[in-house]
Amino acid sequence: MKQAQYYKIILMMKVDVLLGLQWGDEGKGKIIDILAPKYDIVARFQGGPNAGHTIEFDNQKYILHIIPSGIFHNTINIVGNGVVIDPFELKKEIEILEKTNVDVPSKLYLSRKANLILPTHRLLDAAMERGRGNQKIGSTLRGIGPAYSDKVARNGLRIGDIEKNNLYEKYKNIKEQQIRIIKAYCDDINLLENIDILEQQWFEGIEYLKKIKFIDSEIFINNELIKGKRLLAEGAQGTMLDIDFGTYPYVTSSNTICGSVTTGLGIPPQQINKVFGVFKAYCTRVGSGPFPTEQDNDIGVKLRNNGAEYGSTTGRPRRCGWLDLVALKYSVIINGVTELIMMKSDVLDDFNNIKICEQYEINRELTKDLPYDLSDNTIKPVYVNMNGWQKTIKTIKEYNDLPENLKSYINYIERYVG
Ligand code: IMO
Ligand code: MG
Repeated sequence: MKQAQYYKIILMMKVDVLLGLQWGDEGKGKIIDILAPKYDIVARFQGGPNAGHTIEFDNQKYILHIIPSGIFHNTINIVGNGVVIDPFELKKEIEILEKTNVDVPSKLYLSRKANLILPTHRLLDAAMERGRGNQKIGSTLRGIGPAYSDKVARNGLRIGDIEKNNLYEKYKNIKEQQIRIIKAYCDDINLLENIDILEQQWFEGIEYLKKIKFIDSEIFINNELIKGKRLLAEGAQGTMLDIDFGTYPYVTSSNTICGSVTTGLGIPPQQINKVFGVFKAYCTRVGSGPFPTEQDNDIGVKLRNNGAEYGSTTGRPRRCGWLDLVALKYSVIINGVTELIMMKSDVLDDFNNIKICEQYEINRELTKDLPYDLSDNTIKPVYVNMNGWQKTIKTIKEYNDLPENLKSYINYIERYVG
């Protein structure tokens, strides 16, 4: 490649991506909030109100489910076409922010091509989970799976439909179809008991959203990028919950990986520059599904207590375990991570011994490659023991001041994932 061409591409690259490398809840919201001032636009590209991104400042805690975590800054926040939106949930979220004087309508834009979560999607989520008996996914029951299913089945309603006058008719047809499916999944009629209330709230949400700007976000974004504006794409969930690469079927219903930025926002891949991968110094998971390094014992309880590991969307206690480098390296590779951000190492402050899983043993064979089926119960994590630092690091601001044992921990991870 000629030098000039090379520089042209570098100059073009205005998009950075931040995403989770584990099973969600890595602390993405906090980092977005820190990075946001460097960007003109923060945009969500996938997922929906199953996400819970926590940001805390001035002794006040905010949990964002759909709104991008740049909303507290002077940036434009876009909910992209790849996201599924529940109008009532979004209304609630906006109202909370407005109470604290965040002027949401001036800096939140919704893609006309984002699909809507309908009240029946939530009910269907519940009906499908009940139908799974003891194979439950542990869904957040926000209607995410059914909304994406309808999108792919080409039955969905989108934000752009709110601007048309046949929304109600379209809604009614889909609703009737969905009620038949709900009844087929589960004969618990009580499930449909609240449908009228849910529907009323949903239409309240629809009316409310009319004060928010709907845009063709792919056109808007590409125009802004040409002008030299910078965009940070905010991932939800984590790589191990990706519909293709996660621990299927115990996953969410969207692609959570870096590739999803191109389809979820309409951004060409050449525009992507840095990929920030966020992970915790240990692992957690909410809901069911394989988790090789899970510590269903005192260690897990200690991690949960030290780290306040309870779901921010559902309040469920999170399952906790040691850092899994086999899974982390896999995530780094398929996302093309260029910068790693390790969160919550202070949760390990008072541990004597810390373990890191660096390979799996399967039927007496060792592997560092993530196996196809993580739920195979012959998989045993093989750990390396690290010495704890046994000292609080909460007030430390400089790398050099960190305890030597924590530096070794960081070094080990860096070397392993390359
Ligand atoms: P953030 O963005 C952690 C999990 C659910 C369940 C599975 C499927 O805060 O990291 P779904 O509602 O998508 O059908 O649930 O995925 N899950 C998350 N776990 N953090 C999240 O988001 C999650 N979003 C979904 O617990 O196991
Ligand atoms: Mg969360």
